[in-house]
This record gives sequence, structure tokens and C-alpha cells, in this order.
Amino acid sequence: KEPPRPAMIPIRGVPMIKHFAENWGEVERFQAQPDDLLISTYPKSGTTWISEIIDMIYNDGDIEKCKQDPIYMRVPFLEFAVPDIPTGVELLQKRSSQRLVKTHLPVQLLPPSFWEKDCKMIYMARNPKDVAVSYYYFYQMAKVHPDPGPWDKFLDDFMAGEVTFGSWYQHVRGWWDKRKEQRMLYLFYEDMKEDPRREIRKVLEFLGRPLSEELVEAIARHTTFAEMQQNFMANYRTIPTNVMDHSISPFMRKGVTGDWKTQFTVAQNERFDANYERQMEGTDLCFRLEI
Ligand code: PPS
Repeated sequence: KEPPRPAMIPIRGVPMIKHFAENWGEVERFQAQPDDLLISTYPKSGTTWISEIIDMIYNDGDIEKCKQDPIYMRVPFLEFAVPDIPTGVELLQKRSSQRLVKTHLPVQLLPPSFWEKDCKMIYMARNPKDVAVSYYYFYQMAKVHPDPGPWDKFLDDFMAGEVTFGSWYQHVRGWWDKRKEQRMLYLFYEDMKEDPRREIRKVLEFLGRPLSEELVEAIARHTTFAEMQQNFMANYRTIPTNVMDHSISPFMRKGVTGDWKTQFTVAQNERFDANYERQMEGTDLCFRLEI
């Protein structure tokens, strides 16, 4: 029999995974270093993809080095906490320099030391319709989440921000506004799909690394969906099944843009668009919702 799914616990009004919330004090006190690179995303927006790209950059395109550890060890997840496993903070504290840090925190919850140390940050955003679908399947397979219920209810919860890490709308807007005062590169999943080489060049430039076409090519080839789906150091298959059950839905599920069209009804799409208009009013941040 399956153990019951944990309920969410709010942190300053943001619904959080229960174990993460219970460890919140450690996260809040986390001491960033000036050479940390923060990789920030709302869940299911291409975090693993951009993390693998950046780790390849940090290892000068050496695939063997990138295959020495699973992605969650190479790029520790700051707020991660599950009983009997090292927390994200513990993993990060073992590294001395040049740390890559993954977070899904909304901007207002980021530990203050990241701002104080003026760390570089890369944010990646994705069409919310595809995020909602990806999140729905992830909720089912990653058992730290509450039971998502039927799709129609989950979609309403998503639109209301009543899912772990809170409102997608506030997340993308909050980080977008911060980019003006911070050393931040704001990327989009759809742009990466459209032209990965162009986006990889942007990342290299932002990080102040030499722009070698050979490196760009090696990274682009190593980080296609097909490659990463097969790569046990990137596809989360090394996580025990009581935490992530890939037989319910694989972590590397489809890796496409526009999968929402196979999931949304016409009525759901209309409801979503109307809500999107309201929630995104007054921002110059644009998403290509139809692709
Ligand atoms: S998490 O759990 O929030 O860190 O998940 P995250 O990595 O952000 O998002 C998972 C989705 O990204 C897709 N993915 C990719 N798409 C294209 N190319 C590559 N290389 C790639 N790697 C991961 C993954 O399949 C999830 O999206 P869906 O739509 O569910 O397939």
C-alpha cells in the first residue's frame, strides 16, 4: 500500500513541499559565495536541460567529467530536503568554489546572501501551458507532492497558484523584474528548442567564457532531449522508485513545445487564456502561448 502523500506547507504564503518547508531555516541562512552561479526556474521549465548545458560549459565540454555524477549532485538543489538524504544545503557546503546552485524559489524567498554577494543568475522560463502539463505528470511520479487529483482540478490549482512553489505568474514576473538590477540572463525554453546553439552562445557570453564553435557543437549534441533521456546521469533514473516512479511517468517525458495541445480541452484553453491576461497585465514579459 502506498504511504499517504504529504500536504503542502506555506512559507511566507508560498505553498512548499512539506519536507522542504520543515528545513526552511537552513535554506534561509544559506551563505552564497560571489562565484556561485544560480540556476533559477519555476518547476518543469527546463531546469535539468540548462543545468546540463552549464555543467558542460564548466567542464569545457568534457562529457566524461559530466557523466561522473548525477545532475542533482553536480548542480545541487538549494531547498531540497527529504529524510535520510543529504539536503541541498549540505551538498553545497561540501564544495569550495565555482558552485552551480539550482533553485525553484520565487524571487522573494531567495536567501538574502545571493543578493549581497551579487551572484550571477540564469533564469529559464517556459510556456505556462506546457509547464502545467509537465507539472501534472511530475506530481504523479514524484511522491513528495500531494496527490494532484484529476487534470481539470490540477489546472485550476495551477492557475490559482495553489501548487508547490506557488504562482507561475508571480514567479516569472518577479524574476523578470529583478533582472534589471542583477547580473541575470533570462532565457526561454522555446528559444532553446528553436535554436540551441544560439542560446548556448548567449550563456557562454554571459559567463564570460570563450566562444568556441567546437564547444557549442559538443554541448548542443550532448544536451538534446534524445541524449539526455538516455543519460542516467541526467534522467533522474538513479533516484529510488519510492521517491520518483518513472513507471507512472518518466522524468524525461516528451521534451517538446506545444504538448499542452494534447491535454487541454477548448474550454480549458479559453479559461487559461482569460486568466493569463489578468495575471500578466502590466508586464512587458511575453510568452508565445500558441507554440
Ligand atoms: S524540474 O523537476 O522542475 O527540475 O524539471 P525541469 O528539468 O525543469 O523540467 C522537466 C521538463 O524538461 C524537459 N526536458 C527537456 N526538454 C528538451 N530538451 C532537453 N534536453 C530536456 N531535458 C529535460 C522534460 O522532458 C520535462 O518536460 P516534459 O514536457 O514533461 O517532457
